[in-house]
Amino acid sequence: AAPAMVDPFGRHITYLRVSVTDRCDFRCVYCMPDRMQFLPKAELLTLEELDRLCAGFIAKGVRKIRLTGGEPLMRRNLLLLVRALSRHLDAGTLDEVTLTSNGSRMAEFAASLKDAGVRRVNISLDTRDADKFRAVTRRGDLAAVLAGIRAAKAVGLHVKINMVALKAINESEIEDMLLWCHAEGMDLTLIETMPLGAIEGGRYESYLPLSDVRARLSARFTLDAIPDSTGGPARYVRLRETGGRLGFITPMSRSFCEGCNRLRVTATGKLYLCLGQEDAADLRAPLRADASNARLSEAIDAALARKPRGHDFVIDKADETRIVRPMSVTGG
Ligand code: GTP
Ligand code: 5AD
Ligand code: SF4
Repeated sequence: AAPAMVDPFGRHITYLRVSVTDRCDFRCVYCMPDRMQFLPKAELLTLEELDRLCAGFIAKGVRKIRLTGGEPLMRRNLLLLVRALSRHLDAGTLDEVTLTSNGSRMAEFAASLKDAGVRRVNISLDTRDADKFRAVTRRGDLAAVLAGIRAAKAVGLHVKINMVALKAINESEIEDMLLWCHAEGMDLTLIETMPLGAIEGGRYESYLPLSDVRARLSARFTLDAIPDSTGGPARYVRLRETGGRLGFITPMSRSFCEGCNRLRVTATGKLYLCLGQEDAADLRAPLRADASNARLSEAIDAALARKPRGHDFVIDKADETRIVRPMSVTGG
């Protein structure tokens, strides 16, 4: 296997997140403005280019690829890319191809994703109340997402639910969501809202520190810490009462950057060294310049040498948005 890429802080980079489109059929209130301007389609990498880009990273030691968006299932012919990537699974040079999806089209795609080699998907679900769901996503239909979750499970995909914990919006539903997920055989990951994207409202009022949530849950359940299994930012516990797993993603209340194992690429081929920093390197030009991928490899190395120690997100009363780029551009 290829040796892993190592950054200036000695962190091994084995995980690539690829945003295959910045488009989304939802407009989640914490993610993007209602009148979101998407990128012109002509700017996007083609599926062939995405495939070559991923192959370039795999040759440099990436073992896991997560396709994100926007909503990845909005990308036309995405399955062609998934199938192309599963060649690397068969060859033993890649451990996993996964997706993070809002679930709206999962019912339609679950079976083909499974056939194409996907084993796990993460699906976002912030509330199980239909009216609240509409209010949070502004365009989403809860029934469609629930059908998507059922379809994914029915074809044998492992489903993890992502819930952004929002004060006064879904705070009161956390326990219910947890019990439902575990009864359905799914892990739940709670996420703190991050100051990315120029949204209409403030973030300060809806920011809910997961340290508080964890303390509250500990009063009702026994949370046994379990070692990190994915090398990702989530810290996991197992609930003794349900046997299920619960993850906490806490960029605001507790940093996980020292263990960062990832890079992210946008749909236009920009390599971001960190979700919470503006520094990025263009990979599209080197990708297009040279079919042997040598220039691509050099561009990746040059950028990797600049990977920052971590993000410096702040959510405070001043509520200034320093990073206007929404999560949907850099793939969550
Ligand atoms: P697995 O560990 O493979 O299950 O995936 P994941 O939990 O990393 O992926 P997912 O796409 O479900 O992301 C869940 C949340 O974690 C999203 O809100 C991401 O924005 C957040 N996240 C993922 N990676 C990072 C990171 O490097 N930094 C920060 N601050 N947040 C991240
Ligand atoms: N802060 C935290 N989580 C966010 N997500 C999207 N935007 C933000 C944000 N600003 C979540 C989505 C999805 C995951 C990929 O990221 O809800 O679950
Ligand atoms: Fe779309 Fe995900 Fe952003 Fe919601 S959080 S608008 S589902 S990209």
